[in-house]
Amino acid sequence: MPLNARSFAFDVLDAVEHGGFADDLLRARSLEPQEANLANELVFGVLRHRGQLDYLISHYSGKTGKLDKEVRNALRLGIYQIRYLDRVPPHAAVSTSVDLVKRARKASAVGFVNAVLRKVNRDPVPYPNDAVSLAMPEWLLAKWESQFGAAAAQAAALYFLNKPPAHVRGERQMDIGAQQIVPLLRLEAHHRFLDVCAAPGNKTLQAAECGAVPVACDRSRKRLAAIPVTRRVQLDASQPLPFRPVFDRILVDAPCSGTGTLGRNPEIKWRVTPEEFARQAERQLQILRSALDVLAPGGRLVYATCSLEREENEEVVSQFAGRVQEQGYRLPGREAGDGFFHAVLA
Ligand SMILES: C[S@@+](CC[C@H](N)C(=O)[O-])C[C@H]1O[C@@H](n2cnc3c(N)ncnc32)[C@H](O)[C@@H]1O
Repeated sequence: MPLNARSFAFDVLDAVEHGGFADDLLRARSLEPQEANLANELVFGVLRHRGQLDYLISHYSGKTGKLDKEVRNALRLGIYQIRYLDRVPPHAAVSTSVDLVKRARKASAVGFVNAVLRKVNRDPVPYPNDAVSLAMPEWLLAKWESQFGAAAAQAAALYFLNKPPAHVRGERQMDIGAQQIVPLLRLEAHHRFLDVCAAPGNKTLQAAECGAVPVACDRSRKRLAAIPVTRRVQLDASQPLPFRPVFDRILVDAPCSGTGTLGRNPEIKWRVTPEEFARQAERQLQILRSALDVLAPGGRLVYATCSLEREENEEVVSQFAGRVQEQGYRLPGREAGDGFFHAVLA
């Protein structure tokens, strides 16, 4: 197996710890298809199972203290290949992780990494609690358990341990859960339709299939330019919108923490904080307020996020309680696809 894929995976894991997104980083460099697949599998596998892998590092090394991040990532990669993949001979996994540590100039850790990985085998190791066995931060799993009940929260966490299935719609890949939002608009061809946070346009194009002509808005000029519709407006929707209240249908597919997409974006679970939910909620509330101001009398607005957090969902729409017609979650493990919240306001 090529070393390229592993050293690239190692670099991507390092960049993710500095705030990068695995998907963007992996796409930034073109590798041979076989190497690209392996790099993807290693990066996403390690990020999805990171809580288990870190427990296994302490189990096999007897060390619970902090390790340098290069050493930690080399061990995670080695353990992942030995215990989770079928096609990598253990000695190859050990020697590449040792090489990676050398390459990262952590020569003093070479003996340690070698010794730990030589102990790793595929015998069952009992995990100490649900958070470790589901590879979730303890605080986030506890939060979901209090919101959804233990069984539903754990089913969602379990779903996020696997690669999400790909669903093709038109020429684009679109999660099956994401496809359930637009129908809530009950859009008809004659409706004036505003899509407030439209880029990259998956839901805009799904909505346009009924014949309605969308006005697609987004803060990002570049991402907006890639949406093939005629009416595009670059704007900051947290400010008052430059429209009169003429729209029969409005979609607010709000920017959010993304905790409903942890199978696709597993790095989020290791970096998100409760403060982040509050920050997102403030912006979401401003965007929703601006959008409601341009809804025509008798119109219908759908607010959606791919977050599972009540702060970004129920607590945002509760500010307009009298206008909420219905609301609910799609929970991974209970319904197919990513997690979503929706609320219909009138
Ligand atoms: C969840 S994504 C939208 C996905 C899109 N609806 C789709 O289905 O392809 C959220 C979008 O909100 C945009 N956004 C973030 N803050 C914004 C703001 N203040 N005003 C307008 N758009 C914003 C982001 O650029 C991003 O494209």
